[in-house]
Amino acid sequence: MSSNPQKLSGNEIRNLFLDFFAGRGHQILPSASLVPEDPTVLLTIAGMVPFKPIFLGQRTPEFKRATTSQKCIRTNDIENVGRTKRHHTFFEMLGNFSFGDYFKEQAIAWGWEISTQIFGFSPNNLVVSVFEEDDEAFNIWRDQIGVPAARIKRMGADDNFWAMGATGPCGPCSEIYYDFHPERGDDNIDLEDDSRFIEFYNLVFMQYNRDASGNLTPLQNKNIDTGMGLERMAQILQQVPNNYETDLIFPIIQTAAQIAGIDYHSSDETTKVSLKVIGDHVRAVVHMIADEIRASNVGRGYVLRRLIRRVVRHGRLIGISGEFITQVAETAIALSESAYPNVRQREAAIKAELQREESNFLKTLDRGEKLLEEIIQEVKQQGKTFISGESAFTLYDTYGFPLELTQEIAEENNLTVDEAGFNVEMQKQVERAKAAHETIDLTVQSSLDKLAEHIHATEFLGYTQPAATAKVEAILVDGVSQEAAEAGTQVQIVLDQTPFYAESGGQIGDRGYISGDGIVIRVEDMKKESDFFIHLGHIERGTLRVGDTVTAQIDRACRRRAQANHTATHLLQAALKKIVDEGISQAGSLVSFDRLRFDFNCPRALTAEEVQQIEEQVNTWIAEAHAANVEVLPLAEAKAKGAVAMFGEKYGDEVRVIDFPGVSMELCGGTHVSNTAEIGVFKIISEAGVASGVRRIEAVSGPAILDYLNVRDKVVKDLSDRFKVKPEELPDRITSLQTELRTAEKQLETLKSQLAIAKSDSLLDTLETVGDHKLIVAQLEDVDPESLKTAAERLLQKIGNGAVVLGSVPEAGKVSIVAAFSAEVNKKGLQAGKFVGAIAKICGGGGGGRPNLAQAGGRDASKLPEALAKAQSDLRSALS
Ligand code: SER
Repeated sequence: MSSNPQKLSGNEIRNLFLDFFAGRGHQILPSASLVPEDPTVLLTIAGMVPFKPIFLGQRTPEFKRATTSQKCIRTNDIENVGRTKRHHTFFEMLGNFSFGDYFKEQAIAWGWEISTQIFGFSPNNLVVSVFEEDDEAFNIWRDQIGVPAARIKRMGADDNFWAMGATGPCGPCSEIYYDFHPERGDDNIDLEDDSRFIEFYNLVFMQYNRDASGNLTPLQNKNIDTGMGLERMAQILQQVPNNYETDLIFPIIQTAAQIAGIDYHSSDETTKVSLKVIGDHVRAVVHMIADEIRASNVGRGYVLRRLIRRVVRHGRLIGISGEFITQVAETAIALSESAYPNVRQREAAIKAELQREESNFLKTLDRGEKLLEEIIQEVKQQGKTFISGESAFTLYDTYGFPLELTQEIAEENNLTVDEAGFNVEMQKQVERAKAAHETIDLTVQSSLDKLAEHIHATEFLGYTQPAATAKVEAILVDGVSQEAAEAGTQVQIVLDQTPFYAESGGQIGDRGYISGDGIVIRVEDMKKESDFFIHLGHIERGTLRVGDTVTAQIDRACRRRAQANHTATHLLQAALKKIVDEGISQAGSLVSFDRLRFDFNCPRALTAEEVQQIEEQVNTWIAEAHAANVEVLPLAEAKAKGAVAMFGEKYGDEVRVIDFPGVSMELCGGTHVSNTAEIGVFKIISEAGVASGVRRIEAVSGPAILDYLNVRDKVVKDLSDRFKVKPEELPDRITSLQTELRTAEKQLETLKSQLAIAKSDSLLDTLETVGDHKLIVAQLEDVDPESLKTAAERLLQKIGNGAVVLGSVPEAGKVSIVAAFSAEVNKKGLQAGKFVGAIAKICGGGGGGRPNLAQAGGRDASKLPEALAKAQSDLRSALS
């Protein structure tokens, strides 16, 4: 039998985990982006990814202990998603980390404590595994924690030696499993048996680095990296049959089912799989776009495109014919926004990207599906069992059908696809491309290395120059290096030198133009990969060639906005330290053209006065016109001077110091105003929590202020027109409307209760006499619990000696039942409290009260008639 720990929501589990470790000296850090800094992986696959440089000793951590809830994506098991109970592309990993601080003994002790004390798992329901050679871990579990030896399993390196990839930090691990059936005994424990066990917490003793030839070298420090699967915990604690039916995902499934006009629970297995795939993938795509990934044919962009297409395709399989993805995305955004507010902030971009991809894909699908149908018919007529590689490749190349999709559809028709043949066609195409046209995936280190063989690191001139003459070093179209590209093409351009700032340190990349002889390219974004500045742009006019000499010119107005917001962010940090707490540190930031965002570690919300004081302080510094002093110094010297550095940031030996003497001194590679007076004015828009222990301030400054004010002004004008009052009279007007609304609501309540009583009077006609007692059992429509009680009391008063039981469904998903018994009925041994409690159980609820009057609630309205029938027959037999 499994024990019955407390039911917890996904959000509660996340908070309990972070709070537990915060209470044990861990710094809560916000989730890092799904786009890792580490170029060896495409996407963040585990909570430890952002900390890899710390484990490898390349970066000194600011905290010895940290805890996070990390967004992760893994696509290696994509075909299992929806088919097993617990495979995902997107999932959240809760982790506690020690950077050369505590190790095995403490990690195990806390792992056990949080599992049993915080999440309430009974030790009988827990089984652990250790690496087969790790006697130390085995002994800790047995001797210090008291786990019986039979419930500690030794496992081989495949299961219990964790590594991030072929190379990098790694170490033995110990996993904690939940046992749904401890009654099956300890003799035949098979941890692979997922009808009995689920692994929910992995403790990695990160102590080695593996090099390319597979050799293990001990790391400088012994570290701890753990991962607890949030969705798995929710499955166990919410007692649902799989991860998809937890509150983290199920609402998305319900939205999709509703659009398809079907019911999940009564659907067949294939439909359920499609719904689960949609539930899983929609979370993934929402978070990927929130983290600025855009659909494309290379790297992360391709992963995104493939996931979106799978959602669309599975939508079709369950009978959705039109566009639906933004609707399900809305549910996913609503579910995630409290823990990851960027999904709401980026809502418009997310929905636009999804909508565009979906509508394009639907068009192609229509054409491709027709072709595939024809192919399938033909194949069947010829008595073959597979679709040729050539056909699959045409579908891929011309109709955007990923191979997996063709395979899926083939499978539905009991056919296979000649994958080897497909690969041959793919290879042919690659070879068809000219030798010079190498495929370069800019998200993979090896491609960047290849680029580096031909060209030099980009020289950045933008600290001092808004424009520069430059040479075109490389042109990439869809990740493929080209000698030339024509008007109308979306390109990535690498120049030998550039004034364009590339997104980093939270500051958005510059916008502007690259122009040459008859050529104009609009630069829409800037990225930095290794040492290359990549200009993402659109060729408006002309043909651009490698080797061309061009003029690169930034949009100065955009740059001025970013600069004002960036310096304002530094002043904001200084003001927070001065006014709230010297110990406040930066946890993240975003500096764009229209606003700035600053995340910082602080255990509590700021007061309204503090927010006001901070705003005033920043504006004072702006008015005082402090000149910037920018210097490049050795790191140690900069730190000795008191420059503020950011946790988690990589710094070289030489650092750039932005100093507004006496006000703020920070290490920073961004661009800044030369005098604070250039900022003009600074306004805080909001202060809110992002994760426990992390707060966020959003603000605007400089030229962006006017945009902000214009929007507000329009809202106020609109309201003042609608309410026909002056702007300053709006608050009073709204207060009086609210009061009127409350009065109207109260009146409505009173009327409802009078109506219920009037309705109940008619029940006297249904009165039944049992022995000396009168009996009324009835269901009333739409009556709220309070009125139901009044009605029952009144009826009992009228009948005198007897029992009244009334039930109602006041709103969807709620049942209310009241019992009123006279003293004579009580004398027969019937208590209203106990009686109604037992009846309400039938509707999945409970409750109770006094012997003469009691009320209970339930959730399953469909069971109410059954519950009332039972009440009637029980009362009849007890009173006769
Ligand atoms: N890195 C380990 C895992 O992914 C523990 O976080 O399982």
